Amino acid sequence: MHFSHFARGLHFYLLIILFLTLKKNDVIILTPKIIAIANQKGGTGKTATTMNLGYALSEEGKKVLVIDFDPQHNLTNYLSDEEHDFTISEAISKELMGASYPRSPIYNYEENLDYIPTNLNLSAIDMQLITANAREYILSDILTKLEVREHYDYVIIDCMPALNTLLINVLTAADSVIIPVEASYGAFEGLEQLFTYVNMVTQRLNRGLTVDGIIYTKVNNTKIANEVRERLKEYYPQLLFDNEIKELTEARKSYAERIPLSKMQGSRLASDYANLAKELVEQEGALIE
Ligand SMILES: Nc1ncnc2c1ncn2[C@@H]1O[C@H](COP(=O)(O)OP(=O)(O)O)[C@@H](O)[C@H]1O
Ligand SMILES: [Mg+2]
Repeated sequence: MHFSHFARGLHFYLLIILFLTLKKNDVIILTPKIIAIANQKGGTGKTATTMNLGYALSEEGKKVLVIDFDPQHNLTNYLSDEEHDFTISEAISKELMGASYPRSPIYNYEENLDYIPTNLNLSAIDMQLITANAREYILSDILTKLEVREHYDYVIIDCMPALNTLLINVLTAADSVIIPVEASYGAFEGLEQLFTYVNMVTQRLNRGLTVDGIIYTKVNNTKIANEVRERLKEYYPQLLFDNEIKELTEARKSYAERIPLSKMQGSRLASDYANLAKELVEQEGALIE
């Protein structure tokens, strides 16, 4: 009896000593991190954010995997004009059949950046998942099989603009959600519904899921943009990232020419995303301070 108390006490002190010896930069214990970029509203900057936040993190020296989980495959197009013969769609089909993969669905982009592409077949898979067993866990199982937590610091998943089984799969596999909200009329449309969805997943499927924050995107100097910012600050003071993303035509050019913003000469959005990446990394560092 006495001895077990002593052992428990010792355990406790060892933990305290471990925490006291950690320095601010020792954030490694909290990574790797799987982040869903979600908003069921289209055009809010999910794909631009997945690509450029992912790229910015890779430039910070992080090992990053970005995943296209939207059948519209905009992120895949942004990354490459190559035909991909084994995408996340085929991986899910194999998973549903219990069959093995002919190759990994992970492709290399640059030294610190890999990606998993998708194609239109993903929308048919959403239908198949409706009747599949343990359908919420398919993506999570695939990521475990691919050992992404062992290989990457950040895994960022670009979601489709819908509340469906595909989104549930992403939220079940993720550690956190980042919500890009566009500076426009209707910016708040569906936002509460999305939070309800996230809460449902947190309660039933993935207790570890949290909301990292809201990124204010495509921001200009109009009255409406200022009003939406004020309301975001008022409604979600804890969630709003300090760094926002300006509205600039270079975003479209970057996508059309398949060049990450950071590689475009004089890009202003590249620094927006670089600052956001720093804020995200610091946010995690702050958790253990
Ligand atoms: N910061 C920005 N400034 C201007 N246009 C942007 C910006 N971010 C994205 N866009 C453009 O807005 C459209 C929607 O962006 P996208 O990232 O595809 O949104 P989503 O993935 O949420 O549908 C695209 O044409 C994209 O090029
Ligand atoms: Mg998109």
